[in-house]
Amino acid sequence: MTALIAPSLLSADFARLGQECRDVLAAGADWIHFDVMDNHYVPNLTFGPMVCQALRPHAVKPDGTPAVIDVHLMVEPVDALAQAFCKAGADVVSFHPEASKHVDRTLQLIQAEGKQAGLVFNPGTPLDVLDWVIDKVDLILIMSVNPGFGGQSFIDSALRKLEQARRLIERTGRDIRLEIDGGVKVDNIRRIADAGADTFVAGSAIFGQPDYRRVIDAMRAQLAA
Ligand code: DX5
Ligand code: ZN
Repeated sequence: MTALIAPSLLSADFARLGQECRDVLAAGADWIHFDVMDNHYVPNLTFGPMVCQALRPHAVKPDGTPAVIDVHLMVEPVDALAQAFCKAGADVVSFHPEASKHVDRTLQLIQAEGKQAGLVFNPGTPLDVLDWVIDKVDLILIMSVNPGFGGQSFIDSALRKLEQARRLIERTGRDIRLEIDGGVKVDNIRRIADAGADTFVAGSAIFGQPDYRRVIDAMRAQLAA
């Protein structure tokens, strides 16, 4: 599968989110990663469906085609917000299985809205639930930091979890995306790809630099090397 770069708006300038979306997509990004934190499931608070809806017309590639808005829900409970984000223009909606009482039902709710559904695994969470629901999953997101904040260091055990997830995906024969989130940088992206990831979230590594294109190009060069 083609490698995708998904900059996380968590590290963007919140006073100019629309322009940040346009700028980072003009710099070659593939997806917009939208981190939703509720000050309950995680100890931080970001943005909700209304902000997603407001950004929808700004999440466009330079040729005018819409870019995927990849919503990462760090909220509890999940269902009502998952549906609200589907209606607010999200394309992919992912949630943490611990945060939903009925994981299978939540996946179905998202897909019933015509959107892709993802499951997110914290550094301390095993992949066990996939034994039962992998047939209903469009994307698996492996956290390589504990969720809640940008700018943390990559936790190496995520590499082994990526390898495990990649094996499970291969067994299904389906095109399930395998995404990594947390501490992704130019100097570790190659290792992460070698472990099986195909979709790379990066917040501080991209928005922390003045020239987004330079970082994204450097990441792609590592992936192609
Ligand atoms: C953390 C978020 C990440 C975060 C990644 O809870 O899910 O998407 O923004 O930020 P960096 O790339 O700075 O680790
Ligand atoms: Zn995220």
